[in-house]
Amino acid sequence: MSEIQVLSPRLANQIAAGEVVERPASVVKEMLENSLDAGATQIDIDIEAGGTKLIRLRDNGKGIDKDDLSLALARHATSKIRTLDDLEAVATLGFRGEALASIASVSRLTLTSRQADTEQAWQAVTEGRDMQSNITPAAHPQGTSVEVRDLFFNTPARRKFLRTEKTEFNHLHEVVKRQALSRYDVGFSLRHNGRVLHQLRPCRNQKDKEQRLAALCGPAFMDSAVFVEAEVGDLRLWGWIGLPSFSRSQADLQHFFVNGRVIRDRLVGHAVKQAYQDVMYHGRFAAFVLYLDLEAATVDVNVHPTKHEVRFRDGRTVHDFLFRSIHRCLADVRPGDEQGAADTSHLAASQPHAATTDAAASMPVHQQSIGLQQPSARFASNDNDRADPPTAAALNQSHQTYQQFASVGEQRAGFAVNPASTASMPAGDTEVPPLGYAVAQLHGVYILSQAEDGLIVVDMHAAHERIVYERMKQSRDQQGIKSQPMLVPKSIAVSEKEADFAEQHAATFLELGFVLQRASAESLMVRQVPVILNNANTEQLVRDVLADLIVHGQSQRIKDAMDEVLATMACHGSVRANRQLTLNEMNALLRDMEVTERSGQCNHGRPTWTRLSMAELDKLFLRGR
Ligand SMILES: Nc1ncnc2c1ncn2[C@@H]1O[C@H](COP(=O)(O)OP(=O)(O)OP(=O)(O)O)[C@@H](O)[C@H]1O
Ligand SMILES: [Mg+2]
Repeated sequence: MSEIQVLSPRLANQIAAGEVVERPASVVKEMLENSLDAGATQIDIDIEAGGTKLIRLRDNGKGIDKDDLSLALARHATSKIRTLDDLEAVATLGFRGEALASIASVSRLTLTSRQADTEQAWQAVTEGRDMQSNITPAAHPQGTSVEVRDLFFNTPARRKFLRTEKTEFNHLHEVVKRQALSRYDVGFSLRHNGRVLHQLRPCRNQKDKEQRLAALCGPAFMDSAVFVEAEVGDLRLWGWIGLPSFSRSQADLQHFFVNGRVIRDRLVGHAVKQAYQDVMYHGRFAAFVLYLDLEAATVDVNVHPTKHEVRFRDGRTVHDFLFRSIHRCLADVRPGDEQGAADTSHLAASQPHAATTDAAASMPVHQQSIGLQQPSARFASNDNDRADPPTAAALNQSHQTYQQFASVGEQRAGFAVNPASTASMPAGDTEVPPLGYAVAQLHGVYILSQAEDGLIVVDMHAAHERIVYERMKQSRDQQGIKSQPMLVPKSIAVSEKEADFAEQHAATFLELGFVLQRASAESLMVRQVPVILNNANTEQLVRDVLADLIVHGQSQRIKDAMDEVLATMACHGSVRANRQLTLNEMNALLRDMEVTERSGQCNHGRPTWTRLSMAELDKLFLRGR
């Protein structure tokens, strides 16, 4: 007797819904994607009870033809692709023709739409096991409305997994934020239980975008973010990255878009993490909103049911491009840079920063907004409350003094002072450098400096440590990695795949100072290692590098391990607390900071300096200006 039966359309759709429709937030995501695919420039979302009772979305997109309405609600029906070739270069967010059918099978869904140049809008609802559509005339302006009521009313098992109204709404809110970050040219509004939460107008320029960003990610992020833009071949990256000093206790402010699609991707995550490695305080997370645009055919979007992951045809190139662009941008951040962030300081409540409190979600540090503005009249005035800036001659002399103590660390580590990386003097007597001129040293720990607009406080050891470290790295990069044979070559047991890889990448290892030889099918012989890593755990390092090469196509580990050794040397070779510095020495240190990469963070990612503006100081004394 035959036992196999074809499932009813509704049941088949409900099963499919299991993959796509997890909670109200997933419904909103699918609906927003449809509206964007339809070319909408305005999308209004109305939510009740966290989306469990009602999700209503209205757009002004191109609408759906009356004859297509029932197809829109049918499974495997789409207007977006026709052939496999289309799928391979798909430019729309949707392509499976499943979302509406799935949602309709687990809720009470009404689809209303009107196309341009038609007299009448039409409305469709589905009924029964077969999900037959019932189509009636309706009133609606051009565009489409989808109304989803009582999500999961007919699938109690699913309904049980729903959390509180608040939690569900938070998820949904996150989805709306992300989509709003993906399309600045589209206006969005969001209401929950009648209360308006967002009213975002389409952005016309960079300033509008930054305002939207501040509204969605918080003004504090915008304040300490820099704009990044890079292009290599077909790859284009742009967006905002948070300064390392604005780190988070969670990875909750990380948004990545590939061709306008919201993506959570391991390769991307790894590249970004690596770019921040040298400057991020241990255990903290970077914040970023980044957009990667590349040719649609070089990325496969059909790898995950909710389309949250992608596969890059050339993952290694993408990884490399992301890492390099972000790494470069972070290295280039100097005191006085006005690279990115619009002035949103009026939005931010000024708050004293807590550099290392773990409780703090973020660590805003007032480093960004010191500008190289026109020389201040204040310095020229005879106001004897304020110190006169040192003359260029005095600074030159100070520079020499500083050189003597600054070179100590390098000598100990066996590096020569690199004249190219030392400070240049300010052009004239009146031009105030971004970090200002030292006025005093506090308790042997901090340098107090008078800057264009207020007071700069520098952690002298932390800052010097970074300078020495960057110089050591530079000298290594210029002189190449010195390698030495191991007294007793070390044999390492690996898998055959790893051994193959090591053989194929022998040149890569050689470049990094390692000489590896295959000893047998499943073992390697380490014959030579970099001098600087003489005492490191070679076996672990080689294994980790191989794992990286296999998964990510490249590895930073050897360099990282060297950096770690250099960082320790830098730490020991840097000015200790309680060492008295002369004003000249302090000024020379400040000038060095201004020209050193990553000088805003010490080698452990902590900030090296902060600023109290005159306005902030005035506020402390209730002094109006
Ligand atoms: N807001 C809308 N405006 C215009 N047409 C729409 C809208 N929403 C859906 N459609 C039409 O209905 C069809 C089915 O939508 P549905 O979301 O189910 O599938 P899809 O978007 O094609 O693919 P996917 O399942 O990947 O989302 C779409 O192909 C589109 O033609
Ligand atoms: Mg869709």
